[in-house]
Amino acid sequence: MAKHPAEDSSAPDGFRQTRVPLPRHASLALLAIDDEAEILELIRRWLAELPLHVHTATTAASGFELAKTFRPGMVLLDVKLPDQDGLKLLPQLLANDPGCEVVLMTGYSSVESAVEAMRLGAADYLPKPIAMTRLLEIVRSWHKRASVYLRTVQLDQVASQKAVFEGIVGRSPAMLDLFDKLQRIAPHFTNVLITGETGTGKDLVASVLHKLSPRRDRPFVVCNCAAIAETLFESELFGHTKGAFTGAYMARPGLIETASGGTLFLDEVGEIPLAVQAKFLRFLQSREVQRVGDPTVRVVDVNIIAATNRNLEELSGQGRFRSDLYYRLSTVTVGIPRLSQRMEDLGPLIQHFLTLCSRLYGKPQLDLTRRARALLRSYPWPGNVRELQNAIHYAAMMCRADLIDIEDLPETIALHPKSRTEHGGSKVLTLAEAELAHVIEVLELAGGNRSKAADILGISRSTLYRILEKAGLDPARGHGEHGEEIAQTGT
Ligand SMILES: Nc1ncnc2c1ncn2[C@@H]1O[C@H](COP(=O)(O)OP(=O)(O)O)[C@@H](O)[C@H]1O
Ligand SMILES: [Mg+2]
Repeated sequence: MAKHPAEDSSAPDGFRQTRVPLPRHASLALLAIDDEAEILELIRRWLAELPLHVHTATTAASGFELAKTFRPGMVLLDVKLPDQDGLKLLPQLLANDPGCEVVLMTGYSSVESAVEAMRLGAADYLPKPIAMTRLLEIVRSWHKRASVYLRTVQLDQVASQKAVFEGIVGRSPAMLDLFDKLQRIAPHFTNVLITGETGTGKDLVASVLHKLSPRRDRPFVVCNCAAIAETLFESELFGHTKGAFTGAYMARPGLIETASGGTLFLDEVGEIPLAVQAKFLRFLQSREVQRVGDPTVRVVDVNIIAATNRNLEELSGQGRFRSDLYYRLSTVTVGIPRLSQRMEDLGPLIQHFLTLCSRLYGKPQLDLTRRARALLRSYPWPGNVRELQNAIHYAAMMCRADLIDIEDLPETIALHPKSRTEHGGSKVLTLAEAELAHVIEVLELAGGNRSKAADILGISRSTLYRILEKAGLDPARGHGEHGEEIAQTGT
């Protein structure tokens, strides 16, 4: 492969640099809230060795203000504060920033309050008097994780600034090859076939090819072959005379003529009816069109880009697509791999869509919590980039502040068994976990309908309920462990 232009310091045509601001909480900050100044001083001293901003507060109210301003990744929180119980502040801190890890400290240590703290979402619990070595251990471990995370986010942002070719985001070897190929094809092509699963970016690539071609100032006409009724196909493409058929009140040029001098994009080309395929092939060979009912022959100079998510070779083997047309169309082919085969692109794509959504919804630069990001990385993306785009748009609308957490994501992703198990970190499942994952998968298949799911699983509805209940997924309310709703279309 030729040296990729993105590596050149002088950005050549086609490469646009987009500036992505860093998320607000992108620095490592810790907040300690305790009414005893000596304890805060002690914490400061013990944590001095870490590259960290340490903020301190002696009341719940001033602590909460600092949390909102500095977005600390970790909060050390005293339970007994002069103005408010720490256990009450905990949920407020988490609502402000779901990614924040709160460690509770208390002199009135009891098993119940520890359990209550964990239930409310505390990351850890330290009895007073504080064992400072234990505290340092907890902070160090968080600091290490947070630094790695910060580094990946920063790398993703730098990468996403560089890895944009005419609006197509990508930095995987496959996409860099594709950018290279587009640049070489664009000046010269007459026919190109773009292949790829749905949502991989075929429309986007087609418009970029046109934009980079010498015909960029001429029309780019889109024909969505999947949306045209079979009987109207021929006249859509080739046009018709007045009265050529019922409803043809006046003469009309077809899409081929409309695109004259420019590019005709035939999306879902595999859907063209066989009879029209023959006529279209004749056009490709002669570059002449005849409107339906009109003997006049018109020469049309037009570039053709065809796209398909089907395997045309297979279709032609089955006699459903003309093999001669397939060979004609596929002399130059651009294949776009599915997203799961180029996960290096995921980070820059996420960043790209977060920035777009921030602008679209007038929010400050949006970001994801670490666990939400991990979830997106383990999801298999059957709907490719389009599914990712939809997920981020959805989450951008759902999230309360500017930080997207797991429960803001569409439930197909949040509840996906593969996401769950891999996100949980343990690859080898216990029987109960495997059972639960399977039950969730079947529930998803059944559109959330529990009776149907129970039928498919060959168990009674009450057994299904028992399994969900045992896992903390309250079947009556349909809430998951992260508070996600499980779709409930009838039960
Ligand atoms: N590499 C990419 N960079 C940026 N946006 C992309 C990329 N791939 C796809 N998209 C976006 O995802 C959506 C789906 O892409 P589209 O071109 O319609 O896919 P397809 O035609 O293959 O189904 C579009 O909004 C498109 O702009
Ligand atoms: Mg498409």
